[in-house]
Amino acid sequence: MPAAESAAVSKTDAYRELQGQLAALFAGERNGMANAANMSALLYATLPNLNWAGFYFLQGRELVLGPFQGKVACVRIALGRGVCGTAAERRETVIVADVSAFPSHIACDAASRSEIVVPLIQHGQLKGVLDLDSPQPARFDMEDSRGLNAAADLLLQSSDTGAWTATAA
Ligand code: SME
Repeated sequence: MPAAESAAVSKTDAYRELQGQLAALFAGERNGMANAANMSALLYATLPNLNWAGFYFLQGRELVLGPFQGKVACVRIALGRGVCGTAAERRETVIVADVSAFPSHIACDAASRSEIVVPLIQHGQLKGVLDLDSPQPARFDMEDSRGLNAAADLLLQSSDTGAWTATAA
């Protein structure tokens, strides 16, 4: 089997396995903050070549940093800014093969070379984004997009998300 084909098969298998692990993690637990925290840890530990994996949640017109693994990150991102704000505003998964070529990319870790951001949409409402960064150029493809969208959907189905978007009184 050609190398590219065998790599594609193993990526599919990896995401299938990840989905099973997430289902086990979320079973019997609907706390959205706890589930997002465990999901960021699982993604970071199991997917190869990442230097950041985590969440930003929508509060008003801003994305605010949620649970993550990796280096400290910027806390607030306006809708439409950076890769995260762009994916949130468009409500579409955004894959950036070379972050230095993305005009408004926000560099949290100078090691990042590529990025994928998946919007979190529950009952038609934007709740935030899932963001993964890699030190490897062009690390993310459509297979990652499919796998991470399925993982995000499972998180949204399994969790109460009110605490993600609550603003201080
Ligand atoms: N690079 C992101 C900012 C978040 S960090 O990568 C964790 C962006 O451009 O939106």
